[in-house]
Parts: sequence; structure tokens; C-alpha cells
Amino acid sequence: MSLYLDNAATTPVRPEVLEAMAPYLTRVFGNPSSHHEVGEAAASALDDARARVASALGVRAGDVMFTSGGTESNNAAVKGLVLGALPRGRRHVVTTAIEHESVLASADYLARLHGVDVTYAPVDATGTLTPDALADALRDDTALVSVGYANNEIGTVQDAAALTAAAHERGVPLHLDAVQAAGWLPLAGLGADAVTIAGHKIGAPKGTGILAVRGRLPFEPLLHGGGQERGRRSGTPDVAGAVAIATALALAEAERTQEAARVSALRDAFTARVRALVPGARLTGHPERRLPGTASFVFPGTNGETVLLELERRGVVSSSGSACAAGSDEASHVLLAIGLEHDDARTAVRFTLPHGLSASLDPVADAVADAVAAVGSRG
Ligand SMILES: Cc1ncc(COP(=O)(O)O)c(C=O)c1O
Repeated sequence: MSLYLDNAATTPVRPEVLEAMAPYLTRVFGNPSSHHEVGEAAASALDDARARVASALGVRAGDVMFTSGGTESNNAAVKGLVLGALPRGRRHVVTTAIEHESVLASADYLARLHGVDVTYAPVDATGTLTPDALADALRDDTALVSVGYANNEIGTVQDAAALTAAAHERGVPLHLDAVQAAGWLPLAGLGADAVTIAGHKIGAPKGTGILAVRGRLPFEPLLHGGGQERGRRSGTPDVAGAVAIATALALAEAERTQEAARVSALRDAFTARVRALVPGARLTGHPERRLPGTASFVFPGTNGETVLLELERRGVVSSSGSACAAGSDEASHVLLAIGLEHDDARTAVRFTLPHGLSASLDPVADAVADAVAAVGSRG
């Protein structure tokens, strides 16, 4: 049995989550829009899930919409809020070059089909966007800032509250992609106007997501139809999925402080051992302001995909970066944006640790050293 250290790609469904959602796939199967008792039972579960999400995020229940995942939430936030602001003459969006493809491609869509200008505010070599750099990128016609709270490849954490304050100073709303932050970092009280969460990163099923958008913001839906989710996302809601993600988020929030402390200590010991054992190993991302469960390296002179194969032979499952780019030999757009050379960027290996981890990762660090040595001696 191998050790799965690719939790930023996805996580298994937690037993508590499966148990909580199961009745809504079978016994309580109603359509929440139906005006009879079968429908009302489903509607009440949906209301309850929405209230629990609102409390975890520190927002109003009416601001929470359930989606099909992080990609949909990011598309809806970027497209929906920018298209909503176009009639008021705002046709500029600010993001960074290290965002998830779902943000970058949505911004690109707005540029191609709606004449929106996109500015990529600069991040430094640690992947950090400073409030000053963000402020410099804002214009009078900026409709939205979209930034990731924590980067999925290098784990760098942004000062979300300070970035939000910088955007608000110019009257610009901020969307936070909190997909990787959920379960590790505080989500409430940041002041963001829109927040994305993906269920499958925190022990809920794939295909579940949340977008919380402040109700007063003009928002153009992606999905038009029957007007569910206050008209912001038509389609019969996935009640079981909503219960699942609400349960997973509540559990993750309750355990967060303890998990973050324990896992980051294990991660630090692992990182130190890898650096001691592997000559030339370099940590990517911010040395301190990083996700507790993320250890991302480059091993110059190797090939990341080959190191991954060697690691898998030794019972360790990890990845080169984002799951979207897995298996390709392309250098990561994130690593290039923080200034790595192409050749070094192609040697990236990312370990993302699970919640609940308690065992030392020394044997994994030893396996990393062996794997890198095996690849190096061949090349
Ligand atoms: C930062 C970030 N945003 C968005 C997504 C997309 O989420 P989903 O897989 O639910 O579509 C991911 C997934 O890896 C992610 O890491």
C-alpha cells in the first residue's frame, strides 16, 4: 500500500460526510423547489447546509451558492462579477500569473469576447502579491480583483485581508480562490466579496463546490433557467452534495487549528531532511507563509516526472504540481512566473500532506533522496 501525498489534487470522501449525505441520495430525494412535503424535506436540508457554510465563511446564508466545484465557482466569480460590472463602465480585471487555470482562462475569455483588459499584478520570487503591487495594478474602471488565497503548486499564502483592504480602498471587489486554503487557513473575517471552495479537497465528493458572493454585487449568472440559488445558478440543486460539502467544511473548520500546527511541524521536519539529504534540493514558494501541508521542491539536474516514477516504485504517490498539468513535461506556469528557469521548473515535485497525518515523514524523505539519486545517476 502506497502513501498518498497528493492531497492538493484530491482527497477521499470522509466517512462522516458520506454518512451525512447518504439519506439525500435515497430516502430524502425530493426536489427542493417542489411545494410538497418530499420537496420541503430536501429544501430544509439545503437551507441547513447553506447556513452551516455561511457560518464557516462568516457570510450571510443568502450569499452562498452551491456549485459543481472550484472550476465552476472561479468561472462564475470572474465572469459573473466582471460581466455584472460592464454596464457600469468597468472593463478591467486584475489577477496574477500564478492563479489556477480556471481563473486565468476565465479572464482570457473576458478579454477575447468582451473586450475586458486583464492586468497580471506581479508576484515576487516567493509567489507573494504585496498590497502595494496590487494597488499599483488597480484602475478607476477595475471591476474585480481575483487572487488565490494559497497557491496550489507552491503553497504560498497571500495576506488575503490586506489585499482585500487594498482593493476596497479603490472601491474594487475582491474574489478569493480559497480552494487550497480551506481546512488549513482561517476563512472568516477576511472581508473578501466572493470566495471559492471545492469539496473534493476537504473530504467531500468531487463535483461539489461553493461560491459565496456578496448579495449586493451585480452578478451575471453562468447558468440561466429556473432561477434556483436566488437566480444566480439555475438547475436543480445537488442537495446531497450541498450537505456533503457543508459537513466537510464544518469538520475541517473545527479541526483546523490543531491540524495546521501538527501537520506543519511534520512538514518542516520533512523539508529539512530532504534538504539535508538531497544536494541541490530547493524549496519553492514562501519559506514561512505557506500552506501547512505543502512541501514543494525542484531538484535541478533531474526530471520531475522521472523522480515521481521512482518515488512511486518506493511507495510514495506525489505529483509535479497541479493535477491539470500532471503527466505533461511542460514547465509549470506558476514556477515560470516566480522566475524559475525552464529546465529547473521541469524538475518540480510537490508533496501535499493529508489532514490527520501523525507519523514522521523521515522514511519519505529517505525515499526522495534515493529516487533523486537513482534519476541523477542515470542522467
Ligand atoms: C487553487 C485551485 N483553484 C481551483 C481549482 C479547481 O477546483 P475543481 O477541481 O473543484 O474544479 C483547484 C483544483 O486543483 C485549485 O487548486
